[in-house]
Amino acid sequence: MTTSPDALVEGTDLAGIGAVDIDDVLDYVHRDLKRLPGYLDLYRRYLRQRWDVYELDFARDREDWTERMTEQERQAFVSISSGFHHGERQVEVELPVFMLGGSEESRIYMSSQIEDEARHTLFFDRFYREVVGLPGESIQEVLDASFHHVAETFVGPFGLLAYQADELRADPENPVLRVRYGTTYFLWIEGVLALSVMKITLSYCRDRGFLPAYYAGFTATCRDEARHVQGGMRFLRDAVDEDPALLLEIHETLRTILAINGATSRRVALEALGWTPEEVRGLMIRQLRMKLNDVGIDLAPDVEKMVARIEPELAGG
Ligand SMILES: [Fe+2]
Ligand SMILES: [Fe+2]
Repeated sequence: MTTSPDALVEGTDLAGIGAVDIDDVLDYVHRDLKRLPGYLDLYRRYLRQRWDVYELDFARDREDWTERMTEQERQAFVSISSGFHHGERQVEVELPVFMLGGSEESRIYMSSQIEDEARHTLFFDRFYREVVGLPGESIQEVLDASFHHVAETFVGPFGLLAYQADELRADPENPVLRVRYGTTYFLWIEGVLALSVMKITLSYCRDRGFLPAYYAGFTATCRDEARHVQGGMRFLRDAVDEDPALLLEIHETLRTILAINGATSRRVALEALGWTPEEVRGLMIRQLRMKLNDVGIDLAPDVEKMVARIEPELAGG
């Protein structure tokens, strides 16, 4: 009897996840989006799926990094993963602000997402120490050491999120502020940017047979992301169901995000990892459309035009 890809993604442990294809995890993100699981369903899934970041063994990754990958590949890889390293840390420390508002069920679920994001931060901390070889005693020192690799495209979405988190801190129950924050974080940063980076870096690892511990840990991270995106889309859809005027806040926030997206001057070169800018653009547009279609959120015509012009942008959380 063969196990379906969905069942494999759903039930595998960290030791088995290295055999899972990233495309199957991306399908898994969207499988449940139409029916949108409740917060306690997501929390129970978290209890089954959480993994131990200290179980990964990066010895073979270190060899691939120093002996088998080219300098160009290392540069491209580090410029993408640094956006994730810093992104994970930022969402981990800013999610508690969002957790304050919402139902008790959503708060319980959010506590699991905060723990996920903390674990993802540690995953990148280990990767940078043990594979890339960055110096640092503390987590902050390793973050400081990777900071100069962070691409310009990181600043826009994460700067916006920091601003929105500050506004929310002053008024945590405000539905407008919560929807703005949720659009930037759950829809754009997690639903579009993070899943696109996962697809790019994990396809590279799989095609080349490189970085097995990174592959296992980041695929497990992508499965965590499935819950985050589903929880986030549930939040946005519930918010619009309760007050249809909030749809305009989603549109307005997307206008801001897409205007920032078009305003960066430096492009991230991913040819070394096998991706052209056109392909990255196509991937991002597809990721955005799938979320919006699945939860039934329509865009205004001017926002549709901006979506068609999306520029490759790489970060995640
Ligand atoms: Fe996340
Ligand atoms: Fe994360």
